[in-house]
Amino acid sequence: MLKIFKRSGKGSRNPALAKAVEEVEVEEVAPAALVPEDYEIIDRYPIVEPHARILIIENPKTGDMRYIVDELKLNKREREIYNRVAEALRWELKPLGEVVEDPKDYFIREARRVLTKYRISLGEMPGVSWSKILYYLERDIMGYGLIDPIMRDPNIEDISCNGVNRPIYVWHRKYESLPSNVMFTDIEELNEFIVKLAHKAGKHISTAYPILDAMLPENHRVAATFMEEISRAGSTFTIRKFREDPITIVDMINFGTISAEAAAYLWLAMEFKLPALVIGVTGAGKTTMLNALACMFKPTIKVVTIEDTPELRLPLENWVQLTSRPSYGFGPEKIGEISLFDLVKVSLRYRPDIIMVGEVRGEEAYVLFQAMATGHGGMTSLHAENVDAAVKRLTSPPMNIPQSYIPLVKIGIVIRRLTIRRAGRERVARRVTEITEIIDYNRYSTVVKWVPTDDSFIHEWEESANLRDIALSMGRSFDEVLEELKRRRDLLLWMAENNIRSYISVAKVVQKYYATGGL
Ligand SMILES: Nc1ncnc2c1ncn2[C@@H]1O[C@H](COP(=O)(O)OP(=O)(O)O)[C@@H](O)[C@H]1O
Ligand SMILES: [Mg+2]
Repeated sequence: MLKIFKRSGKGSRNPALAKAVEEVEVEEVAPAALVPEDYEIIDRYPIVEPHARILIIENPKTGDMRYIVDELKLNKREREIYNRVAEALRWELKPLGEVVEDPKDYFIREARRVLTKYRISLGEMPGVSWSKILYYLERDIMGYGLIDPIMRDPNIEDISCNGVNRPIYVWHRKYESLPSNVMFTDIEELNEFIVKLAHKAGKHISTAYPILDAMLPENHRVAATFMEEISRAGSTFTIRKFREDPITIVDMINFGTISAEAAAYLWLAMEFKLPALVIGVTGAGKTTMLNALACMFKPTIKVVTIEDTPELRLPLENWVQLTSRPSYGFGPEKIGEISLFDLVKVSLRYRPDIIMVGEVRGEEAYVLFQAMATGHGGMTSLHAENVDAAVKRLTSPPMNIPQSYIPLVKIGIVIRRLTIRRAGRERVARRVTEITEIIDYNRYSTVVKWVPTDDSFIHEWEESANLRDIALSMGRSFDEVLEELKRRRDLLLWMAENNIRSYISVAKVVQKYYATGGL
């Protein structure tokens, strides 16, 4: 099968690039080397038009999928110019610390200036794409080199390299874990790359300190090991990307993760700052759910978030984001570590309405419950299969929450990653399988339940102690609160139908609702 794509620079956001792109408008056959015989292209999208794009390919017989970075390659002449300009830039660029403007703008300007100089001195050069050379200069000097297109792909959340000559794995929002066609084939190159990652993060990695755990300037968390010191396959790294565009409650309604009615219930719960616990295994979607819930808070409340990796992104003015810090040294030298426990303690000083801990694992849970016992709102997630297991974990070491504290949490939200059949195809999905009110230790009442047989949700509001409490505190009847819930359900459905989905627009609608309507 012939795969033909037309590449064009139209629509490119960088006007200078768009102009230069006209030179390389080509009709081109997808390089056969990128798409092995038994594979078909099932998805494709541009990253930097027209220089880099992504192909998702699948072998329909085996179901095997791969992530293909397709970059226009430099030809011999372009490579020579690239090398000379890169060398010149190394001498001519100011240290970026001395640059006052945006370093990227500065770089592009300088690179273009040096390129233009060469262009003039070299005269007519048919077959040379200057914009392509500029793309590679930016990619390699300012960007992340070989993995730069992956870093720029907003669908990618995780990038792992397990050593030299092994494909880099990516975690794709839509297709999940995929091997890519990108790999480091040279040990030196991989080592240099990891040193560069460390520098970008303002840290140091070497054979003496072969572990890196740090934050990149764009808030991506990077962990790396250096040479064969601790990993026999040589240097390794993994980058957890910061999500620019988080999944919202409206997305979840559209994906079928939750019903609009259950979402409306959680919205009410967020307005009344009812402490909630999101329960699920790794990758189930707990952090994502916390983030979606936080977009429904009243805009005036003060939230402190506490995480190991900054994943949460809240549309609130009054938000303090705290992140733990690993220690600088090793073994007895362990110094400078700041744990979740330390952060929960310090968060109380900020007088927050809500303390939100990304995920509790240890003694920080106890401090969080103490804070809730003294009237703070609390939200967190916990690794467990269901409410029962979650409560068992909370009340056992190392968390040791007293049983009497358990009902401080009002709502348990269980979320699962599972496979469902849709249109005759198995596919991965996330479902809120239950929402349970915690009345007391060992006394739970489930108000929302997911029915696997027909992929629907059952709601039992009559049983809801929380809705009754809300009615009481507002001096309203239970039926009035139910009506309010239905109004919010309809508003959420309207947003879902009209694709008002980004976290900013969801927050806007929610805040407008608080200002003009509501209970
Ligand atoms: N409701 C959802 N629908 C589709 N994908 C989701 C949903 N919730 C989470 N994801 C995706 O699942 C992955 C893991 O989510 P995350 O919230 O980090 O899980 P956890 O915190 O439970 O480990 C992410 O790639 C995220 O984009
Ligand atoms: Mg998480």
